[in-house]
Amino acid sequence: MDDSNSFVVVANRLPVDMSVHPDGTYSISPSPGGLVTGLSPVLEKHRGCWVGWPGTVDVAPEPFRTETGVLLHPVVLTANDFEGFYEGFSNATLWPLFHDLIVTPTYNTEWWQAFREVNLKFAQAVSEVSAHGATVWVQDYQLLLVPGILRQMRPDLKIGFFLHIPFPSPDLFRQLPWREEIVRGMLGADLLGFHLVQNAENFLALTQQVAGAAGSHVGQPNTLNVSGGALVREVGAHVTTADGRRVGVGAFPISIDVEAFERASTSKVSELLTTLGSPDTVFLGVDRLDYTKGILQRLLAFEELLESGALDPEKAVFLQVATPSRERIEHYRVSRSQVEEAVGRINGRFGRMGHPVVHYLHRSLSKADLQVLYAVADVMLVTPFKDGMNLVAKEFVANHRDGSGALVLSEFAGAAVELTGAYLCNPFDVESIKRQMVAAVHDLEHNPASARSRMITNSEQVYTHDVNVWANSFLTCLADAGEDS
Ligand code: ADP
Ligand code: F6P
Repeated sequence: MDDSNSFVVVANRLPVDMSVHPDGTYSISPSPGGLVTGLSPVLEKHRGCWVGWPGTVDVAPEPFRTETGVLLHPVVLTANDFEGFYEGFSNATLWPLFHDLIVTPTYNTEWWQAFREVNLKFAQAVSEVSAHGATVWVQDYQLLLVPGILRQMRPDLKIGFFLHIPFPSPDLFRQLPWREEIVRGMLGADLLGFHLVQNAENFLALTQQVAGAAGSHVGQPNTLNVSGGALVREVGAHVTTADGRRVGVGAFPISIDVEAFERASTSKVSELLTTLGSPDTVFLGVDRLDYTKGILQRLLAFEELLESGALDPEKAVFLQVATPSRERIEHYRVSRSQVEEAVGRINGRFGRMGHPVVHYLHRSLSKADLQVLYAVADVMLVTPFKDGMNLVAKEFVANHRDGSGALVLSEFAGAAVELTGAYLCNPFDVESIKRQMVAAVHDLEHNPASARSRMITNSEQVYTHDVNVWANSFLTCLADAGEDS
């Protein structure tokens, strides 16, 4: 056992994504997603150890320290693990189930076996690197069984678990053939964290419903002591397990690192505006290319506004950056081709030579380039059908601290609970997206004081509830969690 790591985070992904070249050398790039955005600054501050998958199959580098001082401990996944655990159970079973069945989940026993085996593999890696009595923070839906396995392997550890995606209502979750094992796995933790009160309440209701089978008794939950604001020091809800342990349950909305925020270079912003033809209104979307994000729906809303004349193709442009994600999974492939077909069609109908109305990139951008896009945008469109939080919305808001710009936000994104100055839309209803796009543009042009006050409300929330509040709240509650009831 390596006794040097007293703070260990374990997530499916490491913050770096490796690509192996034919000559055996490899290169690394930042890995995608909100989990990495949220956790990286926390690990840097604690100089912690991060156990995770480096994004390759069958090979992994030796443990190494990043330039920012985080010790990375890679876990090797085989090609079979990748298919059954990652593409299969994590992303074709749990992902759609936890996002309220936007597509139908597949229940496959072989994938479930792979999920169990890989969770065991991650738990073993954590057990090897963790000091006696270490704090271990397990992340996200890919590792739901790790808390339970670790509890058996290493009862000395303090174990927290945080779910970065929504937790569905018990009526949906109960579809899962392996529901009792999953709940038991989660209850191995001392503290379970969710983004929203609603997610935590869904989990508490579920443990009541499957308690017998999961072998746990549920304590009477008090009110959930959710942040809403400053540091949370206590969780108000607990589940008491059959062996008498108290598992804390709370809501901790994740956020971004506003301290690291760097203003986009003004010359780059004006250069981009000129390249775009100095339009009156720039709409922006930035997402992983995921069917949960509602990218097609916002494109359709833009198309219909051009069609009706509500927007002028000479004066409005739409920028969409979509990071490649989970590309071999069927629903992701379909989603990409629908988005790209819509981009082509809209440009064919409303663009002219040298002047497309939709600018589309299917790739990852550097943080600096993203900042330029956020700064250029007048209206940010964040329209997921379901999203645990959505950090892109918070990043846009942080870039508009001066009150400029407007955010159109799905009411089904976790961020809608906090960003009360957003123009809320229902992404299942294209008319609703259109209405809020028009309202945002109208306010920016004709009611600037109202638009400004809405954005200031949003940015005050983000600047007072940053990622440090999130991590400190969770870790403070975890330090106190886990006494016997
Ligand atoms: P999710 O975790 O589902 O991907 P979030 O909105 O919470 O969604 O987080 C996405 C993170 O990935 C944000 O920090 C965002 O800046 C980053 N990101 C999204 N798209 C890109 C892109 N094309 N290039 C670089 N970073 C991106
Ligand atoms: O935030 C949700 C999440 O699924 C993370 O767990 C994950 O790291 C990220 O999005 C990106 O997805 P993936 O790791 O499958 O590329």
